Amino acid sequence: MEFKKAPVNRRVVQLNRWIEKGANFAIRSYDGVMGRLHLGGRRAAYDDLAYEFVGGAKDKLRAKHYDKSLRLLWKAEQHAPWSSFRDLTPAEKKVAEHALRELNPEEIELRERIAKPEFSEMLKQTYTPEQRAALVSILSTIGHGEAYAWLVSAELLGQLKSTGAKAAATMQVIEEAKHFVVLRELILAFDVSVPRLSAWEYLLLESALKAKGLEKFFGMNVLVEGVALSIFGLLSHLPGLEILRLFHLDESRHTALPINYFSEFDMTRWQKINPIAQLRRLRMIMPAIPMVFHLEEAAAELGIDIFEFTGSVLRKVLHLAQRAGYKMVLPPAVIASTINLLLNAYCLMTHPAHEFRDFTTAETTVGADQRAVEAEVFGLATG
Ligand SMILES: [Fe+2]
Ligand SMILES: [Fe+2]
Repeated sequence: MEFKKAPVNRRVVQLNRWIEKGANFAIRSYDGVMGRLHLGGRRAAYDDLAYEFVGGAKDKLRAKHYDKSLRLLWKAEQHAPWSSFRDLTPAEKKVAEHALRELNPEEIELRERIAKPEFSEMLKQTYTPEQRAALVSILSTIGHGEAYAWLVSAELLGQLKSTGAKAAATMQVIEEAKHFVVLRELILAFDVSVPRLSAWEYLLLESALKAKGLEKFFGMNVLVEGVALSIFGLLSHLPGLEILRLFHLDESRHTALPINYFSEFDMTRWQKINPIAQLRRLRMIMPAIPMVFHLEEAAAELGIDIFEFTGSVLRKVLHLAQRAGYKMVLPPAVIASTINLLLNAYCLMTHPAHEFRDFTTAETTVGADQRAVEAEVFGLATG
């Protein structure tokens, strides 16, 4: 390549270089001292000398979360043709149209029925008004949770070390944004009023958002997303709710993030054993118990045993917490059996024919594919 060089004043160029070097030394030394004194200093945890974020590349984290998220990226226009989203690229649209031609007449009819604005009508024909209200009660619990997941993941993005972990968190921010806006349209399509947050869920979500530093991982990725994963696993086999399988897949990746992150950046001993943090974690779990009692009526309408569901969620959340290294004052087995006793006591008081059961052995995720997704995340073969 040939360029016609422009003339420069060599002496001025040299002078500018010296001035920059002096300024660089002064600015960085000042910020370095202020940083060490915890009085400010450089704001960005970015290492421009290494051309990486502080913490290094951590390509394994990037591959497990960022690359995988992009491989599994789904578009609402294709999977929820009844929605207002127009997010397919022209090439993806062509592929989708081609796939439509492969369908048999019955499948085309079903697809067209769903593609029309009558999706809402289809839901009305499939479910009674009571069932629709019950589904919206349960789905909106997660719908509101997605708003918080969006906020918490955006805050976590700034907290995580390394280029790989920031790439992973960025995908989570995008996915939570998509979950919130798409789930909102799905819920509104049921055409029943959407309940506000229950007091218990309000407490739970606010404490996840207010949690300091990497404790947010516990509140959101372990606890809230453990519940979300379980609700999607519970409902994604129902007619009109098939798109929840994609949510379920995304959430499984999010619940694995703290474990993958801590395998690269160990929690400090103090972070693990800090008794105040341990108590806070236990306190964060507590509102989840009355929260599920609050959903009992809605679940019953759909033939779901809320106590089995609670046991199933509890087992998964405690497993995730333990794998990530979060201690909670008491060993997980003691927490599980204490909550199981509480659930049985509540059942005895409210259902006279109740017989003692171990709810923590229940599995309420429906569908072979959905169970396989969870088996993968709980085995943590997330690569
Ligand atoms: Fe989500
Ligand atoms: Fe999530």
